[in-house]
Amino acid sequence: MEGRDLVRSLKAVGSAGAAQGVRTVRAAWRRRRADAAGLPPRGTERARVPGPVRNVEPGPGGGVVRFARSELRIAVAVNGAVFWGWDGVGPEPSYALAGCPEPDPRASLEPDKDGGWRVVAERVTVVVSRHGAVEVLTPGGVSLRRELPPRWWEPVGGGGTSRWMQRSEVAADARFFGLGGRASGPRLRDGAYRLWNTDPGRAFGPGDDPLYITMPVQLVVADAATHLVFYDTSWDGTVTLREGEEGAGSGHDRAGTCELRMDGGPLRCWMMVGTPARVLHTWATLTGAPAVPPSWALGHHHSRRGFGGEQEVRRIVAGYQQHDLPLDAVHLDIDHLDAHEVFTVDEEQFPKLPVLAEDLRRDGIRLVSIIDPAVKAEAGNAVYGSGRAEDAFVRDASGQLVQGVLWPGESVYPDFTHARVRAWWGRMYEERLGQGFAGFWHGMNEPTSFTAFGESTLPRSARHALEGLGGDHREAHNVYALCMARAAYEGLRELAPEERPFICSRSGWAGLQRYGGTWSGDVATGWPGLRASLSLVMGLGLCGVPYSGPDVGGFHGSPSPELYLRWFQLGAYLPLFRTHTSLRAGRREPWEFGADVLAHARVVLVERRRLVPYFMTLAHLARRTGAPYVRPLWWGAPEDRALRGCEDAFLLGDCLLVAPVLDPGADRRAVQLPRGRWYDTVTEQAYEGPGQVLVDAPLSRIPVLARAGAVVPVRGDDGGLELEAWAPARGRTGGGLAVSDAGDGWAEPEIERYVTRWKGRRVVVERDGEDGMSEPPRPVRVRGLHGR
Ligand code: GLC
Repeated sequence: MEGRDLVRSLKAVGSAGAAQGVRTVRAAWRRRRADAAGLPPRGTERARVPGPVRNVEPGPGGGVVRFARSELRIAVAVNGAVFWGWDGVGPEPSYALAGCPEPDPRASLEPDKDGGWRVVAERVTVVVSRHGAVEVLTPGGVSLRRELPPRWWEPVGGGGTSRWMQRSEVAADARFFGLGGRASGPRLRDGAYRLWNTDPGRAFGPGDDPLYITMPVQLVVADAATHLVFYDTSWDGTVTLREGEEGAGSGHDRAGTCELRMDGGPLRCWMMVGTPARVLHTWATLTGAPAVPPSWALGHHHSRRGFGGEQEVRRIVAGYQQHDLPLDAVHLDIDHLDAHEVFTVDEEQFPKLPVLAEDLRRDGIRLVSIIDPAVKAEAGNAVYGSGRAEDAFVRDASGQLVQGVLWPGESVYPDFTHARVRAWWGRMYEERLGQGFAGFWHGMNEPTSFTAFGESTLPRSARHALEGLGGDHREAHNVYALCMARAAYEGLRELAPEERPFICSRSGWAGLQRYGGTWSGDVATGWPGLRASLSLVMGLGLCGVPYSGPDVGGFHGSPSPELYLRWFQLGAYLPLFRTHTSLRAGRREPWEFGADVLAHARVVLVERRRLVPYFMTLAHLARRTGAPYVRPLWWGAPEDRALRGCEDAFLLGDCLLVAPVLDPGADRRAVQLPRGRWYDTVTEQAYEGPGQVLVDAPLSRIPVLARAGAVVPVRGDDGGLELEAWAPARGRTGGGLAVSDAGDGWAEPEIERYVTRWKGRRVVVERDGEDGMSEPPRPVRVRGLHGR
């Protein structure tokens, strides 16, 4: 047992009692034994490379290039994405895809020089060398990514799985982003990043990797173009990145490199090229449009583990009301459950949950329930009984139920990779809806099983249906939470068809956005944790999952008033704005940190509520375009290299630039501005980009800048939608969009387009509609007119 494992097991003993500690030791041994018996030993392996090209077979969107020892299938899709799969594999089946796009009939396979082949399409050219290197170039012929011939290691004598390795090169100036939720980004520095969804078992900081959501999705930003590359395989693996260097050594550029080593699974890849916006749009057409959360989910959420009971929930809510603090949702953690068992209620602490839910709803506050996948393995537990009858739980190679350990003790895990099991689980949410819950957060779904040593998850040999194809946990692990989210989403669509579901899942994979969002997980309380919070949200957004946010204040312990406030100020500009803590952590209510913090927090909460229409607009735009709400500063200017390394500020949609304070003791901070004029939204002082400026950041606020010309939809005092327009620079125009949500259902809202321009000495705002320009049908306030 390693030191860290020992600490973990002792912690488990300490926190959940000695009995739980013993269980985690037993579970670890069980897991080890299961894998010893259930996994084929890794015997002698033989390496394989594609070998020389033999012939080709043109097909829709490209064709098949045959090599001596493999064949490569290439297809350019109508959405502009390029697919290639080795050993003849196609894009389906895939857990990531929302549907497979049609091949582009205009793309064709042609001979290239030196015996190679190429596929020429509208936005890219793919060149395949005669030894199986695959290079993707811009239409102008600039190389974006060159994949060297892959290499497999196969068990001699057949059977078992093949490991593989794929090395690629990118431009010397390229920067890497993505790979799921990474605490040390968003720019991914040189190093190895594992692809295996992991509960770190304690509060994490920037040094912890991997975390709950990993995915083989890389966004690469370079002068020539941005590209997103997705290796569609769910197996365990490692990506090793090394940024290139311009003029390195002898004056020659050194390319950036990426080496992907996977334990198994198909070697297949999607790549899309263009501007960041175009690339994310294509990604969303491939893996599905981000679900639009209900509008209340764009407000403020208060959560904690250990509310204790109904009285405490009511006390907190009353505190918000007495202090005039907007509140939109309260989350109940596992302590509201009966003995931590999923789909139950502790009737002593919460004797009338539906009444509580109704009372809160009358005040505009929704209740959200934790849902963990583990089901207590005990006769008499209704979910266990029904799951047994349904044959819903994961079994091992010998057909026995796999037993792990979670909060309720000995537990079994539904196999969400089976459609029948998903349907069964989805029906369970009826009980939650009956209790009055309006939303759901899925925890511990990596999946986590507490083990005293070894990995805290199910045995790798555990069997999964994998949609009828059959396989084991090595393949199912990373998509487990994705499938759980799907189960909930589809269940809720049946049970409450009028409402958009709210699902926030701790773990996930490519495509999670179709069902909902995520949150940071147990981020460590401290300034590094604050920084990690932003990294996670930005990185996930670039992987197509736009809705997320941290545990404001950090998960454990007690933040200083300053840290709490700075976290609160950042959280207010992230899609999910939620305070949350662990069981024994200190208070997180805004009034617990003194009068100053309370006053500043009130400003933050009031401003967030005012910006809900803007967040709603961003949510609808994310669904239509795949653009995340929270974007790195280089989003609209990937060629601005100074912005590529800038990780401490972000764009919120097109209109706002948010520069949170991430260090203690600051009263101003440097902000790297993209091109154009920007106004401090409080002082209206104007700054000119590109370049770095120093901006005031007193304790009372973080700098939030508005782009000159922007139109921001905000909530007026009467609750209606209003437009806040920012003066364009003289001689220039601007504009913005407003999507007024038609409630929390499915009605398709209209997109209102506005333009701003100078007319003499006035700034006018007009609606750009089908019948030309017209007066905006909403109150307008023009700001920035006196900006220096
Ligand atoms: C996990 C979650 C955390 C939650 C706890 C109890 O640690 O990440 O948010 O409070 O489980 O459910």
